[in-house]
Amino acid sequence: VEIPNPLTALTLDELRTRRSIKWHQYEPDVLPMWIAEMDTLLAPPIAAVLTEAVARGDTGYVHPGGYAEAFAEFSGRRLGYAPDPAHGRVLPDVMIAIIDVLDAITEPGAGIVVNPPVYHPFFTFLRLAHRTVVPVPLVGDDYALDLAGLDAAFASGNVSAYLLCNPHNPTGTVYDRATLLEVATLATRHGVRILVDEIHAPLVYPGVAYTPFLSLDHEAAARAFVFVSASKAWNLPGLKAAIAFAGPDAVEELARVPLEAEFGSGLFGVIASEAAVREGEPWLDALRTGLDANRTLLAELLAAELPQVGYRVPDATYLAWLDCRALDLGDDPAEVFLERGRVALASGPPFGAEQGRGFARLNFATSPELIREGVRRMAASL
Ligand SMILES: Cc1ncc(COP(=O)(O)O)c(C=O)c1O
Repeated sequence: VEIPNPLTALTLDELRTRRSIKWHQYEPDVLPMWIAEMDTLLAPPIAAVLTEAVARGDTGYVHPGGYAEAFAEFSGRRLGYAPDPAHGRVLPDVMIAIIDVLDAITEPGAGIVVNPPVYHPFFTFLRLAHRTVVPVPLVGDDYALDLAGLDAAFASGNVSAYLLCNPHNPTGTVYDRATLLEVATLATRHGVRILVDEIHAPLVYPGVAYTPFLSLDHEAAARAFVFVSASKAWNLPGLKAAIAFAGPDAVEELARVPLEAEFGSGLFGVIASEAAVREGEPWLDALRTGLDANRTLLAELLAAELPQVGYRVPDATYLAWLDCRALDLGDDPAEVFLERGRVALASGPPFGAEQGRGFARLNFATSPELIREGVRRMAASL
């Protein structure tokens, strides 16, 4: 059976009845294209298991069930590598899992390398965890990893770990195997531990090769931690269920994360996520087809209506990192689009004070109609 485009199922009026933050942060005349939520219904197998759970009154404390096994199988089918499910722990969400692991393997004050522009909670969570952010910015028009910069930062003495985002948010870049192997070699040379946020891996576009970090045949991968979730690809972020997978030589360290940490995840999250990775691939394929069309549509619309805006079509994710510097709208163009155009993008500067200046991030996980409307509103701001 052909699954219709999940991105065209809901009208704007229907979306505005939602209770999630995407639809309540701004006034009702604002078109929200900021936070990474999708304008889809649930994949039918997910809706079914949640409905059954409601019917059972199954709202007790979480049990991880078969989520890690199911995710490992999904990863094996989809990405060509299945992590060992016995090396995975279900934790509330990716950010909390990252902090739990950093607490287990580094000391307060430790330097943690990140690559701005990058998902801004990396900065906030590291600060809350009393770790020191060590920025090594992406370089070039392709937002490549700066291997020499990583080498220098790792050699600086105070760096304990590297928090890599692959696929990268907000740029949508995917790093190839050779690059990841070089990163692994640098980390081993300097005794730096690697944590990889792979939350967007199910959202890699057709034709893009994706390398799960744990699949690398390298001692840095054997000592790495990887963070995955069904929350981005199936739009479940409010349900709270991510998984931290340890490489074979890091399993004992992952076991240091207290059992109580698992209780912050939600039973509905685990139930929904397990159904997503077991039965949600046909829906994911339909979604990805819709997103693939959207990323191209956005390029066409920008070329026609906002030709000064720079946009590298992402290899993965439904996020577009827009270089608005030529529009001369100041450090935070999203503020201008919001005030004048009534469209809410994510502000660039929180993704990196330097690298985000003059940029904004647009979420295109919506209907083509609302993408057109969003670009129209941006253009009307000028
Ligand atoms: C790279 C990245 N990591 C983590 C998250 C947040 O995930 P979670 O809600 O599981 O903490 C997001 C959400 O958009 C993200 O893009």
